[in-house]
Amino acid sequence: MANHIEAKLQNALDKVFVPGIMRSLVQMNLVRSAEIREGKARVTLASTAVPTEYHNLLKDQAATAVSNLSGVKEVAVDLTEVKPKELNHIAKIIAIMSGKGGVGKSLVASLLATSFAREGKEVGILDADITGPSIPKMFGLNGRPSGSETGILPILSKSGIEIMSMNLLLPSEDEAVIWRGPLMSKAITQFWEEVLWGKLDCLVIDLPPGTGDAPLTVLQAIPITGVIDVFTPQELTEMIVKKAVKMAQKMNVRVLGVVENMSYLVLPDTGKKLEVFGKSKGEEMAKACGAPLLGRLPIDPELAKLCDEGNIEKYSSDAVSQLFANVVAALNRET
Ligand SMILES: Nc1ncnc2c1ncn2[C@@H]1O[C@H](COP(=O)(O)OP(=O)(O)OP(=O)(O)O)[C@@H](O)[C@H]1O
Ligand SMILES: [Mg+2]
Repeated sequence: MANHIEAKLQNALDKVFVPGIMRSLVQMNLVRSAEIREGKARVTLASTAVPTEYHNLLKDQAATAVSNLSGVKEVAVDLTEVKPKELNHIAKIIAIMSGKGGVGKSLVASLLATSFAREGKEVGILDADITGPSIPKMFGLNGRPSGSETGILPILSKSGIEIMSMNLLLPSEDEAVIWRGPLMSKAITQFWEEVLWGKLDCLVIDLPPGTGDAPLTVLQAIPITGVIDVFTPQELTEMIVKKAVKMAQKMNVRVLGVVENMSYLVLPDTGKKLEVFGKSKGEEMAKACGAPLLGRLPIDPELAKLCDEGNIEKYSSDAVSQLFANVVAALNRET
């Protein structure tokens, strides 16, 4: 009986959106307690990251939703402040790394997040590339995150992916962020601790290239499930690819696998695969890294176009589906 009432309450509160983001109180994990006793409903909500001017609206909407339940004669809604970190429940966290720049990390991060969202999963992207953030551009986002003293709300993409990036906080998109290591690390830590992500099935972290301060902070401060290393066939030495993998291994973070991007080009007339930069090094790199090859993505002009337009969520291909399936399998595999 109690469970039945509890489910009804959660169900009602799952229809109330948090002001500033199109996610429900339940999705953002703001319901601290909810009970009904002798017709009296009592709900305690965390008002974390909800701007003060919306507090009353939040209470009213929750009260209305609950008062519509049968058997409820009276409703009391209280607000409480809780740190975002205590409310964030994230099942899996993937960090995307690479030895060098421009190999397609942000692209892989975006495509994986999009694949999760298509499966109806709750997913977020933490853009940890503080000085060169490119995630908002790929998703065509330019809104500003709202928030309060207690936390920041991510921006929602067209397909409902929660996104937080330095680019969304800067006065103008072209603004250069010139920060030293410690400040950068602080910004990343804040994106982790002070953003209300709520309940997520997966958080994808897009890292800047290399093995500098930002990747170090992410691997140290965030409980990563596993990292994915992206490279291209242009990579001249195994060493660069291995460097990122080694860093993760040294820090006892699991390496889910490697991805070869720009691996080949499909010729439009014949459908033949042309290995533009020479023969694929995928298997070789995977072996050198001691991690599986999760996928090979072709150079696709359509993909480049959708990235430029901010429409990456519209892209789908067999190669991406295959990559996604392998990533999910790797995530579900016990270590
Ligand atoms: N497989 C691909 N097909 C077509 N275009 C691609 C492909 N991979 C990457 N690109 C293009 O190359 C550019 C660089 O990709 P991306 O931003 O993902 O690299 P990155 O590794 O995140 O770079 P950085 O190191 O600067 O963060 C993007 O503008 C994207 O449009
Ligand atoms: Mg990038």
